[in-house]
Amino acid sequence: MPAVSFSARMTRLTTAIELAFTSPRGFARAVRFRNGPPRLANLVRLIEARKPATIVEIGVWRGETAQRMILAATKHRDGVRYWGFDLFSEGITDEIMKHEVSLPPLDISEVERRLAGLGASVTLIPGDSIETLPATQLPQIEFAFIDGGHSYTTVSADWRNLSGRLAPGAIVVFDDYTNEAAVEHEGYGVPALVDELRKTYPVELLEPVDTFPRPYGTLRTQLALLTFSLEAALADGHSKR
Ligand SMILES: C[S@@+](CC[C@H](N)C(=O)[O-])C[C@H]1O[C@@H](n2cnc3c(N)ncnc32)[C@H](O)[C@@H]1O
Repeated sequence: MPAVSFSARMTRLTTAIELAFTSPRGFARAVRFRNGPPRLANLVRLIEARKPATIVEIGVWRGETAQRMILAATKHRDGVRYWGFDLFSEGITDEIMKHEVSLPPLDISEVERRLAGLGASVTLIPGDSIETLPATQLPQIEFAFIDGGHSYTTVSADWRNLSGRLAPGAIVVFDDYTNEAAVEHEGYGVPALVDELRKTYPVELLEPVDTFPRPYGTLRTQLALLTFSLEAALADGHSKR
């Protein structure tokens, strides 16, 4: 365990140094949130409580939340499997980043290196999740973190493509349930999707709310936790794959 913690700390330091040269916005974020943005601590708490064996993350970015989630899961059980979907640096463009309200990811081999040796089976799937998620064989998923493209089109496709693969009682966490101003000025699609889904599924908006200054005012963002049930899925028109 100490070796893993040291490696995770070194990874964060390396990330901050790299970002200082490549992305001032990313660097400021890395320094302020060297232990991750406060809202994301919920993921570790939920994984420690649920002890899932199968985890999907859509939007891996630099693998930092993936590391935390995998370590939380492997602390409690063997046989943890993690699937991470991302465009990675090979597939991202400035235009996609703007349209999807995204951050610049690393290349897939670097993320693979960061997630190796944490005690889980790790599968990284490069490409647009709208295409790669339906094309990937998955077992029933017990825990999913949806944090890839943030346009309504992408996040709603990610939900549709994942919902038929969820285990009964699975939990799905959406990042970036934001305030209206952020939807209007930056194009976040998560609030509209989550507000639709909460008519069918139990959804809890998790504290804390993280805040970031923006030219238009303040971006307020929090996680939305959806608990999946087959009954609700059938009522919602999804079929089990
Ligand atoms: C906000 S970052 C994810 C942060 C990560 N979940 C974490 O907590 O460390 C969003 C990621 O989604 C990826 N992304 C954006 N649009 C995507 C798409 N259509 N398909 C796959 N990945 C996408 C970006 O490359 C970026 O790495």
